[in-house]
Amino acid sequence: MDIKRMGVLSAGGDCPGINAVIHAVVKKAILDYHMDVVGILDGFQGLIENRWKRLHYNDVSGILPLGGTILGTSNKADPFHYPFYENGELCFGDFSPKAVNNFREMDIQALVAIGGDGTFHISQGLIAKGLNIVGVPKTIDNDLSETDLTFGFDSAVNVVTEAIDRLHTTAQSHHRVMLVEVMGRYAGWIALHGGIAGGGDVILIPEIPFDMEAIYRAIRKRVSAGKRFSIVVVAEGAKPKGGDFVVRQKVQESHDQIRLGGISYVVGKKIEERTGMETRVVILGHLQRGGSPTPFDRVLASRFGAAAVDLVVQGQFGYFPALKCNAIVPVLMEKAIQSLKTISLNDPLLGVARSSGICLGD
Ligand code: F6P
Repeated sequence: MDIKRMGVLSAGGDCPGINAVIHAVVKKAILDYHMDVVGILDGFQGLIENRWKRLHYNDVSGILPLGGTILGTSNKADPFHYPFYENGELCFGDFSPKAVNNFREMDIQALVAIGGDGTFHISQGLIAKGLNIVGVPKTIDNDLSETDLTFGFDSAVNVVTEAIDRLHTTAQSHHRVMLVEVMGRYAGWIALHGGIAGGGDVILIPEIPFDMEAIYRAIRKRVSAGKRFSIVVVAEGAKPKGGDFVVRQKVQESHDQIRLGGISYVVGKKIEERTGMETRVVILGHLQRGGSPTPFDRVLASRFGAAAVDLVVQGQFGYFPALKCNAIVPVLMEKAIQSLKTISLNDPLLGVARSSGICLGD
């Protein structure tokens, strides 16, 4: 396709590696295809409000190692369900005609939308209205289907692993049970990978509802073996058998209003009451989304960014570059948003955890 000018935006929660994608997209578009590139600010909010800036080659040099996104982002700006206040009351409206109009006014023929399932949903809707959009899969949660990995995940796991390493020494000195709560929404990828890498003793993930008795047993078994401390890694989406998630807050303007968090306090209190061991809780929260991307994420993000530009030029709109068996392949965004990628109970990594003595709460 003859694309002279294209846009790029980042939407949804930020994560390390977005700037590496922007870096790859802008440089490749300019060097290989002599295109103009514009960066749309604050995700789909910028598309609705017509806020953007030209991205020249020099604008993206040096941004590769930066965390966050130089374009800004928003996780409350779904054009089809856009929040606004009228007489002090929160209302939602369909602002997609405005988004389509601004896309045309920017004089761009295509857009690269960096985001997760929410961004892909919105992109699908805009594609149905005639816009040319290619996705790039981003989320620390790694819960996007149809790709083995999303960038941001490795960086988040790195933060979790370092935190668990640090918690080990203080847990050991004080003979405490330390609980570390990690992000991931309804998927346990960060908890499982971070927990195994950091040598957690108990790992609780949303896919395996936990039984408190199993957790007490695991901690006591360690005490009998002379280990007077334990590390319990808790996914924010973990829930007890027959129970429900702990909701930290509801963000009214957001399409997906639920924010999880706080389950580790519930579990920690019960452990203290039942085992008599002192417990402490650490919720890593947004630390997992901040900071510089790992080299792995920088490379993955660069591969995705470069592939996205090729998809634009080939006119493969509605697709995103996915990682499958270490190859980058085009996949329909529509396919990836059918269901969340959670940990299958047959996942070999669960077996690896169990056979190294980790309690998974069941
Ligand atoms: O999807 C990424 C993520 O960091 C989740 O792991 C977490 O539950 C959520 O976003 C937090 O959202 P917010 O930044 O709105 O608090």
